[in-house]
Amino acid sequence: MKILSVASECVPLIKTGGLADVAGALPAALAAEGVKVTTLLPGYPAVMAALGGGRALRRIDDLFGGPARLQRGEAAGLDIIAIDAPHLYARAGNPYLAADGGEWGDNGLRFAALGAIASLLATGGMRGLNFDVVHAHDWQAGLAPAYLRFGAKRVPSVFTVHNLAFQGKFPLDLFPRLGLPPQALSVEGLEYFGALGFLKAGLWYADRITTVSPTYAAEIRTPEAGMGLDGLLRGRAGAVSGILNGIDTVEWDPAKDRHLAANFSATKLAGRAANKAALQRRLGLEENPDALLLGFVGRLTWQKGVDLILGAIPSILGCGAQLALLGTGERWIEDGARGAAWAHPGRIGAEIGYDEGLARLIYGGADVVLVPSRFEPCGLAQLCALRYGAVPLVAHVGGLTDTVVDANEMALAQGLGTGLHFAPVQREMLEAAVWRMAGLWRDRKAFARLQANALATDVSWTRSARRYVALYRDAIADAR
Ligand code: ADP
Ligand code: GLC
Repeated sequence: MKILSVASECVPLIKTGGLADVAGALPAALAAEGVKVTTLLPGYPAVMAALGGGRALRRIDDLFGGPARLQRGEAAGLDIIAIDAPHLYARAGNPYLAADGGEWGDNGLRFAALGAIASLLATGGMRGLNFDVVHAHDWQAGLAPAYLRFGAKRVPSVFTVHNLAFQGKFPLDLFPRLGLPPQALSVEGLEYFGALGFLKAGLWYADRITTVSPTYAAEIRTPEAGMGLDGLLRGRAGAVSGILNGIDTVEWDPAKDRHLAANFSATKLAGRAANKAALQRRLGLEENPDALLLGFVGRLTWQKGVDLILGAIPSILGCGAQLALLGTGERWIEDGARGAAWAHPGRIGAEIGYDEGLARLIYGGADVVLVPSRFEPCGLAQLCALRYGAVPLVAHVGGLTDTVVDANEMALAQGLGTGLHFAPVQREMLEAAVWRMAGLWRDRKAFARLQANALATDVSWTRSARRYVALYRDAIADAR
């Protein structure tokens, strides 16, 4: 089976969020199941550099306003086709945003091109290349299923929603430039509340829709979490499913991770203490092995509930805990985090920035990782935490519900549980969960049990890769 995976980011070439981790790790997991994946990416400077140029597949004279070349190459074990179109992608920095923080004005065309080329490749635009399924990720690839529907050959598509909040809405007057037939401009197509919706197009035209956890797949059917698309998703209920993300357990391995102060494993946990001490030193926290060290890694946005953590600081201090926070994002939260660290030296440490090494030290050194998200399609932070023996304390939403087993009273009595859940997602409930965690921490045996259960969790891609294979098979069978 051959799959064309279409994404706007992919680890280790270019990343702004978890989508890149998934696009980068799923191909190897699928390869183990006998599935061959080729990944189509926009030719950003980082992608072209990683390919070392690549082999020319084809030249296109005019791809939405300029010439393009399709270049194929290998990078980090991935088979990649890049769209080398300098007028669209040869820009420094973030793939979506200009230096002033605003979206690039031509994002509609930049990502329409991604969808159009996906369809061209899959429907026989290149001799010798053929794919059984196109797997498109998020709004940036949302037009791939639309172009495919009107393409020269019937090739089934799977569309994965990583986050319904990012919808790719563009003005209607972009439509004539897209090269889609007029009937695509209707409610039964791209039209979305008086504009064009790229995410909506993917949801409408794809043969199968997936999200990254079963609970999020259910939540997005409701008006509360559906972000305007719940009606469409209910209408397509038979095509929607949730498949959990995993992480690359070779890339994320505390026994080999070079970013840690000391390596450790589930059976040789001793090294973990050195990571806690290193993390405390790095962030200016009191170097105290007995203080419960809470960590946070992630985007500093409303979705991630970081403001709830900042609001809970009196409780965190009250129960004797410390906090190590790493992230970048919205200015008001960054300022809040800096302010908290400044006001409570030795107890609260914050680093504003993107730092893979520090993130790994937090997963490998903090006792607990907080994930108080208001919504979370899957979440990878809690998976990394489980893998590195930091007990996750999570909001009871989305993929957090599906990946962390809540150590409620009955579970604890049976020695079960890999973390704690709290709901509803409010500061008071987070505070109560922190107090409860502090109680478990004082009862070292109970905490060690939780940590051992966390470390024993299978967070690899194996189960989910098999689910995707079954889904691809269904989509192929239906398209016949
Ligand atoms: P999302 O994709 O919504 O941002 P996920 O939890 O799915 O959230 O994925 C985020 C990934 O990015 C995790 O692997 C996390 O460790 C990593 N990450 C987020 N912020 C940072 C940061 N500031 N420094 C290093 N890694 C980060
Ligand atoms: C999105 C979601 C996150 C998910 C990631 C990868 O960024 O916010 O929950 O883990 O995509 O699927």
